[in-house]
Amino acid sequence: MRALVTGGCGFIGSHVVRSLIASGWAVTNLDCLTYASNPGNLADVAGNPRYTFVHGDICDFDLARNLVDKADVVLNFAAETHVDRSLLDPLVFVRTDVEGVVSLLEAVRHAPQARLVHMSTDEVFGSLPLGIEAAEDAPFAPTSPYSASKAAAELQIRAYAATYGLPITVLRCSNVYGPGQHLEKFIPLFTTRALAGEELPLYGDGRQEREWLFVEDLLSAVGVVLADLPVAPGAHAVHIGSGERLPNIEVAGRICDLAGASRSLIRPVFDRPGHDRRYALDCANLRARGWAPRVPFDEGLSRTVRWYADQAATWSHSADNDFAAYLDRQYSARLSAVEEFGS
Ligand code: TYD
Repeated sequence: MRALVTGGCGFIGSHVVRSLIASGWAVTNLDCLTYASNPGNLADVAGNPRYTFVHGDICDFDLARNLVDKADVVLNFAAETHVDRSLLDPLVFVRTDVEGVVSLLEAVRHAPQARLVHMSTDEVFGSLPLGIEAAEDAPFAPTSPYSASKAAAELQIRAYAATYGLPITVLRCSNVYGPGQHLEKFIPLFTTRALAGEELPLYGDGRQEREWLFVEDLLSAVGVVLADLPVAPGAHAVHIGSGERLPNIEVAGRICDLAGASRSLIRPVFDRPGHDRRYALDCANLRARGWAPRVPFDEGLSRTVRWYADQAATWSHSADNDFAAYLDRQYSARLSAVEEFGS
């Protein structure tokens, strides 16, 4: 089988590429190499005869069409994903996360053999009250430019499925973490800062809850989905979450312990505007198909912190000028503010 993976040099995409190659697939990786990509993530498969890298953008329709024509399955992991950046620079999210998806949809509707599997997010549902889990048919209520762009992409997918009779799979995942994630995200940022003995900027009161899914459990879920892709026209949503929901302050504390750092590094700072309090997915349907997460959060977090500690020579917050500028823009004022937050 031939897969076109978009965004294969990113965190999740690179894990999926490696897993598909290991399962015997021929994989073409289309990636435009934004700041969030790391081709080094795929150094071990770069020479594999079943692996091809194409440097390009999903918004380039001619290129997308050409590659989709040669694929049995198209897995779209190309996206701008960081909520904080969507507050600083929203237009790029609309371009990649919405226009890029429409470009792939146009390509797929001209290629009847190609099945589209699109990565979405639990954030399309917005913040959920305690005790509520979002089912696959729950209404969208996005609150950030990022989640609104992902919800918009899903609406385009529904429209294409209805208009052209396409069977499309939409994966909605909770927060995925593990080795190789970009340092801007909560767990890598707090891990690397804790290892370096730097303050950990915890937004607001730190009581926001996220559902943490170790990347290996996402890979097994993708395997279950690929083994039985739908044939009926429609947008078929699949929820993938662990059920392990923790407040950020608890995760921050555990990261400090695992990194051998003091919990006093945790520094409540001015909150993210529009910060969603809680996400939670109802994953009964995927579990009924035989899938279950295998890596408990404690184990996954410990493996992740160890990975960043082992890789300390390869990451540096200051060596990458663009990332240093982003950190400055995002955190300098927060960390230098004298007011007390989160009380
Ligand atoms: P993040 O990794 O950005 O994922 P998302 O917002 O898409 O769920 O953040 C996870 C949680 O951690 C979220 O509630 C925001 C919080 N957070 C902080 O408190 N401080 C930070 O510096 C970052 C990046 C996130």
